[in-house]
Amino acid sequence: MVVVEHIAALREQVRSWRAAGARIGFVPTMGSLHAGHLSLLQVARERADRVVTSIFVNPLQFGPGEDFERYPRTPEDDRRLLADAGCDLLFLPAVAEIYPDGGQSATKVSVPQLSGILCGAHRPGHFDGVATVVARLFGIVQPDVAVFGEKDYQQLAIIRRMASDLALPVEIIGAPTVRSPDGLAMSSRNLYLTPAERSVAPGLHATLRSLAARIEAGERDFAAVEQRGLRQLRESGFDPDYCEVRDAVTLDPPHEGSTAVVILAAARLGKARLIDNLRLSL
Ligand code: PAJ
Repeated sequence: MVVVEHIAALREQVRSWRAAGARIGFVPTMGSLHAGHLSLLQVARERADRVVTSIFVNPLQFGPGEDFERYPRTPEDDRRLLADAGCDLLFLPAVAEIYPDGGQSATKVSVPQLSGILCGAHRPGHFDGVATVVARLFGIVQPDVAVFGEKDYQQLAIIRRMASDLALPVEIIGAPTVRSPDGLAMSSRNLYLTPAERSVAPGLHATLRSLAARIEAGERDFAAVEQRGLRQLRESGFDPDYCEVRDAVTLDPPHEGSTAVVILAAARLGKARLIDNLRLSL
């Protein structure tokens, strides 16, 4: 595995692979890697000849008072995991490499409507930070295909929309959520949980499953489903930000013609803010 910190070195390597006819796959991450991240790498390997992974804790997507400073950083473990998983190139840029002027006056990418709802309503500016860094990373790597986790369902929708609106020549692939055996979606932020909170955490997925069962049984009063979800989360010990049923494609409230919905929730548990979602056909 080649490890590079600078854009010029990355470009040179990718250019030579491309000249040899290779298709380039890309998996952007913020590191502190777990099996969820590695599953994206496997998907990329199936769809491309060479796989680039980036690790960059992007300051632009953290709000004031959020966890940018204490976001878990495990560079040695990450390197080993990526090499073992068959990553060809690890891009590890410093903040100044991505935002030479600090980022405040840099060009921003915004996907307005999709970024203002759900998590975006609770984390103002977050998805502009995500769209901006992903657009910039796409410009640097110029991948043929990029893989994102369905665990961050809204993020995936925003990146699809950005790539489509900007006519970026990259295929966006969504990969299923990887969970612990007890149902908890893997996340770098699970490290914030105390042992007691960790035993409560699977209740988020359990709540989504119980709501999905109601919809599958014919419940169509989605507002009632959402209220039940919020109540259930509070009773389990969470402090929920939201629990909503949305059209699985547009993320609008479900309408007559919706053929699939997604139940999305975000909830605080101690120092962690956990998100999860469950998609189901109607
Ligand atoms: P990060 O949280 O490190 O996640 C990197 C990628 O891994 C994302 O596409 C995310 O959806 C995926 N992922 C995380 N947990 C997963 C799980 N349990 N199962 C499957 N996939 C999972 O998301 C980001 O970083 C950043 O916002 C980024 C896109 C890199 C832009 O900075």
